[in-house]
Amino acid sequence: MNILQEKVLSWYAREGRKLPWRETQDPYKILVSEMMLQQTQVDRVVPKYHAFLERFPSAKDLATAPPAEVLQYWSGLGYNRRALYLQKCAKEIVSAFPKTIEDLQKLPGIGSYTAAALLSFAFNKNVVVVDVNIELLYKRLFYPRKDVAVIAEENLPLRKSRDWHNALMDIGALYCSAKNPQCTLCPLQKLCASAFNAERHEETRVKKKVVPFKNSDRIVRGGILKLLAVKDGQEINLLFRALQLQGIEREKKLFSLILKKLEKDGLVCIKNKKVFLP
Ligand code: ADE
Repeated sequence: MNILQEKVLSWYAREGRKLPWRETQDPYKILVSEMMLQQTQVDRVVPKYHAFLERFPSAKDLATAPPAEVLQYWSGLGYNRRALYLQKCAKEIVSAFPKTIEDLQKLPGIGSYTAAALLSFAFNKNVVVVDVNIELLYKRLFYPRKDVAVIAEENLPLRKSRDWHNALMDIGALYCSAKNPQCTLCPLQKLCASAFNAERHEETRVKKKVVPFKNSDRIVRGGILKLLAVKDGQEINLLFRALQLQGIEREKKLFSLILKKLEKDGLVCIKNKKVFLP
């Protein structure tokens, strides 16, 4: 092992976070965690993860549940489309869980990142996983290199993929945040080309793309689904007014477009000017 691998793995053995999806090797449960973690912070995911798996302990339980109930258990996590993708995945994995990147990517809502993460976390396969936090960590450690994919391949310790990626995620989350890295506390301080260097911290940050319109759509979509979770089957006009009362104000035309999109995505049904959960 190289010195970075040694430092990272010994730190992880001592101080890695004990997270519930790290205590299982059930690929279904790990899939649930990865889908939840794609858009939501760890501490908000933990209670939702427990509740979800208590209600849907296996792929079969999830596959056969009413979609409205799946959405209910997803409520609060955001990006509700993911819940329906997850249910579609469950239907496909009841017979066998795919074990290659190519087959995993054929599952609904699973891209190259999640496919790699599943192989690493569920099966400890020798594949590199690079999310935005790991990307940032590598860029800072190896500054000024930018070839993160190559760096990741060069440093992956064989047969330790699971621990390695969990450790990098922890070090990223605990010490190497985008805006406020804590170099004094970081176990990799002595190996890092950007330690205590504010200019490099800033330069290496992965800048978020600004997509204001899409973001605002998301608020309306989430708002509509929350209202339906409280009371299913509401008139379109009343939904529009209820959102306005919550300060989520959009033009009626935009609201109608967003509602149509929700219907197309299978997140709501519209019948006789009333909106229902699927
Ligand atoms: N984000 C995505 N996967 C994760 C994991 N296994 N641990 C912590 N954060 C994550």
